[in-house]
Amino acid sequence: MKILVTGGAGFIGSAVVREAISQGHSVLNVDKLTYASCLTNVRTVEQNLGYSFAQADICDGQAMAALISQFRPDAIMHLAAESHVDRSIDRPGAFVATNISGTYTLLEAARKYWQDAGRPDGFRFHHVSTDEVFGSLADTGAFTEDSPYAPNNPYSATKAAADHLARAWHETYGLPVVLSNCSNNYGPYQFPEKLVPVVILNALAGLSIPVYGSGKHMRDWLYVEDHAQALLTVATNGATGRSYNIGGGKDLSNLELVQTICRIMDQLRPAGHPYSDLISFVPDRPGHDRRYAIDATRIQAELGWQPKVTLEEGLEKTVGWYLANAHWWRPLQERSGVGRRLGLTA
Ligand SMILES: NC(=O)c1ccc[n+]([C@@H]2O[C@H](COP(=O)([O-])OP(=O)(O)OC[C@H]3O[C@@H](n4cnc5c(N)ncnc54)[C@H](O)[C@@H]3O)[C@@H](O)[C@H]2O)c1
Repeated sequence: MKILVTGGAGFIGSAVVREAISQGHSVLNVDKLTYASCLTNVRTVEQNLGYSFAQADICDGQAMAALISQFRPDAIMHLAAESHVDRSIDRPGAFVATNISGTYTLLEAARKYWQDAGRPDGFRFHHVSTDEVFGSLADTGAFTEDSPYAPNNPYSATKAAADHLARAWHETYGLPVVLSNCSNNYGPYQFPEKLVPVVILNALAGLSIPVYGSGKHMRDWLYVEDHAQALLTVATNGATGRSYNIGGGKDLSNLELVQTICRIMDQLRPAGHPYSDLISFVPDRPGHDRRYAIDATRIQAELGWQPKVTLEEGLEKTVGWYLANAHWWRPLQERSGVGRRLGLTA
């Protein structure tokens, strides 16, 4: 298949690009190359004849139309987004522009291409989203595909808006849209401002490891390569007009996650004291959702996808990867805002 991937120089998009190439697909990676991107993430596939890259903004309708009509994709997998909740609290405008207007622009370019091509049934527009659109759960239960939308921060609100646009473009225009909503991802190549790399890199530097609020916020964690495989499954086999929840099925509190990473660091890079000594509780994020959990029954039953990597295995691989790849993350720590506490200006 020919797949146009947006956001393929980011964390999850690059895992999708690597996985798609390894499955034999051709990929056009379209990315604006924002502060959160790194083309090194796709270095292992950039010599592959099936891989190409275009630097472009999804808000640029002409550029999107030209790239789509030149590449003639069988599927568009849309991952480009502003993705850091703390940044969305300080500067929501960039999130509205990329996540809402950018998604609208891409949907319109895809619709025109699909209509001009005679509305092929096999075409797919896969909109990649997050479980955060469903808001916060009480102590029990899990998000299903029918859970009501209740986003609580600017990031999740803009993703929710984009989900609604994608759904409407299917219902109104018949565009063959599929949607997926996934839990928190972790793994290699995750930008150093996100929780898992922050814990690893602060521990390594002997800096305090910030835990927001009480640390009791519950999350489901999924290894990024499992997510990439799930996304390719949805893009190639998902039913149009349908959404699929994706998760690892392993819920734990942020504090438990941080303690687990510290234990793995104690084994892989002993410091003479437990890394958990560095844990420090800091003021909570405004609008911080208390609990997310995913019911992934639909994707398992209908598409046969299951996560392969356990949380313990995935965290070990991830810590090992960051320990071995300082040349990747060190320059990224110099980028604007990284290493500073953001998102307290509610
Ligand atoms: N990280 C998670 O845990 C998680 C979980 C579920 C869903 N998601 C969704 O998956 C997608 C990818 O997330 P990620 O964590 O890899 O994000 P990321 O921030 O690591 O990467 C985003 C990529 O999009 C690109 N981009 C941003 N604005 C753009 C624009 N206007 N035009 C073109 N490219 C642009 C960036 O340059 C970057 O390469 C997002 O849509 C996100 O909402 C993320």
